[in-house]
Amino acid sequence: MIEFIDVEKRYQNGVKALSNASFHIEKGEFVFIVGESGAGKSTIIKLLLKEIEPTSGTIVVSGNNLQDLRNHDIPYYRRGVGVVFQDFRLLPSLNVYDNVAFAMEVVEAPSRIIRRRVPMMLSMVGLSNKAKSLPGELSGGEQQRVAIARALINNPSIFIADEPSGNLDPETSDEIMDIIDMVNKQGTTVLMATHAKNIVDSMKKRVITLKDGFIVRDDEKGGYSNEA
Ligand SMILES: Nc1ncnc2c1ncn2[C@@H]1O[C@H](COP(=O)(O)OP(=O)(O)OP(=O)(O)O)[C@@H](O)[C@H]1O
Ligand SMILES: [Mg+2]
Repeated sequence: MIEFIDVEKRYQNGVKALSNASFHIEKGEFVFIVGESGAGKSTIIKLLLKEIEPTSGTIVVSGNNLQDLRNHDIPYYRRGVGVVFQDFRLLPSLNVYDNVAFAMEVVEAPSRIIRRRVPMMLSMVGLSNKAKSLPGELSGGEQQRVAIARALINNPSIFIADEPSGNLDPETSDEIMDIIDMVNKQGTTVLMATHAKNIVDSMKKRVITLKDGFIVRDDEKGGYSNEA
């Protein structure tokens, strides 16, 4: 489903953010990407979304070699990948409902389906009572839940979360992990970059550990390693 073959990313300023990265993620897997700040986690996510291009190597997602995707195919490709960005990227002038509905409008979903599905998704992330609030009126955890609802609204086959470094309180992050776990159990492949050692340790999922752009560990049902 997701394959990185010897991928290297060197940014224009010469910073090498990813080196010799190879891994394979099966459909339906749940994988954490961990590593300290600057290790290359967001770089992997941006490469997956084709927001940036690898300097060398091959990335294949759902049968698409990303190098071969034409410009007009990229929006369609991205529809299959629901993402929660590190900075959420919510639209500040739209309320919670409209932020989520907008993601369906851009794929031209019928308004009848939008009216049915958005409230269902807001309820799933526990935000029914905030539908009319603007992003600026929400806590960090609430904004993250809006971003999750938006990422999932079009039923992507892959869900990616680039967790903010500002940690959420344990209760909120447990609720969010419950939602993500449920989505995974419904068959969605999950990739989550995080610093949260306690979450990684308790979930017992595959963990890919990055250090200075190198994959230094790839453990089935692993934990967060400090030595790595
Ligand atoms: N656009 C860019 N131009 C130049 N260097 C960049 C760019 N984006 C990231 N980098 C560098 O690449 C390296 C990896 O960055 P990346 O954002 O992937 O780290 P990260 O693991 O996501 O960190 P964090 O946990 O802080 O989000 C860092 O050294 C960073 O400074
Ligand atoms: Mg990052």
